[in-house]
Amino acid sequence: MKTVFINCSPKKRFCASAYFLFLQRLSVGGEKVNEKLRTPADHTRILDQIRNAQAVVFGIPLYVDGVPSHVLGFMEEMEAFCKENDLHINVYCVANNGFIEGRQNEPLMQVLEHFCFRAGLNWCGGVGIGGGVMLNVTRILFVVDIGIFLLNTVLSLMNTGSFIPKDAWISFGESALVLLFFNLGVLLYLGRMGFYIRKGTSAGKRYTRILLPSFIFIVFADIFFIIISLFQGGIFRGWLKRKEYAS
Ligand SMILES: Cc1cc2nc3c(=O)[nH]c(=O)nc-3n(C[C@H](O)[C@H](O)[C@H](O)COP(=O)(O)O)c2cc1C
Repeated sequence: MKTVFINCSPKKRFCASAYFLFLQRLSVGGEKVNEKLRTPADHTRILDQIRNAQAVVFGIPLYVDGVPSHVLGFMEEMEAFCKENDLHINVYCVANNGFIEGRQNEPLMQVLEHFCFRAGLNWCGGVGIGGGVMLNVTRILFVVDIGIFLLNTVLSLMNTGSFIPKDAWISFGESALVLLFFNLGVLLYLGRMGFYIRKGTSAGKRYTRILLPSFIFIVFADIFFIIISLFQGGIFRGWLKRKEYAS
């Protein structure tokens, strides 16, 4: 069985879609092909891959409550391609959005469902994930944690000759568990969808989010976006800057 995973984020690196598709792949067997959809130059290559695939998993970021425009262009071509070649592939979707509620991905899921109907494909459902940006940050924090842990181990070896710094193990274990907890809903639902992809049947739609209370999410999200804004054009990404219009 061949499954094609299509990362539809326009970002070159560190995108949340790549993280969620990585997790999704863990529970899918058989031949797995990873594709990246950013520009029309990617279309032919991806269509060639789906020609003999049994399942396609789209990893899509939510843009303005819908499907990003570069993905819509691909879907139009894919519809014609599938009709021409009489393909009836199973289609799944892992959608993620920046705000906390995963249910905001429902309109995107509906677009995909209608697309499948028109193209003669089997719509098999998906997982909508809220707090995608923050969940993506948890994987970076995990790598940082591992780095700190290794550093502590080396320092302990140099200072005490012991390979097993107990405090470092405990603090690494604690933060790894917290990060795991944030991701539990995602792991559960992607694992569940992997089961249905392997079976080749419909998984239905499920919505989840970062497992963090909303009032804490808002504080962290505000701090995060103020810092990001400062790096990308000043506070609030230049919203408050005086605008110059062409006359
Ligand atoms: C142009 C644009 C529109 C967006 N619209 C929404 C939106 O309507 N609702 C939402 O919750 N997040 C929205 N987001 C946030 C993205 O869904 C979020 O950053 C997502 O994690 C990006 O996934 P990626 O890293 O795989 O590209 C938007 C982001 C951009 C750049």
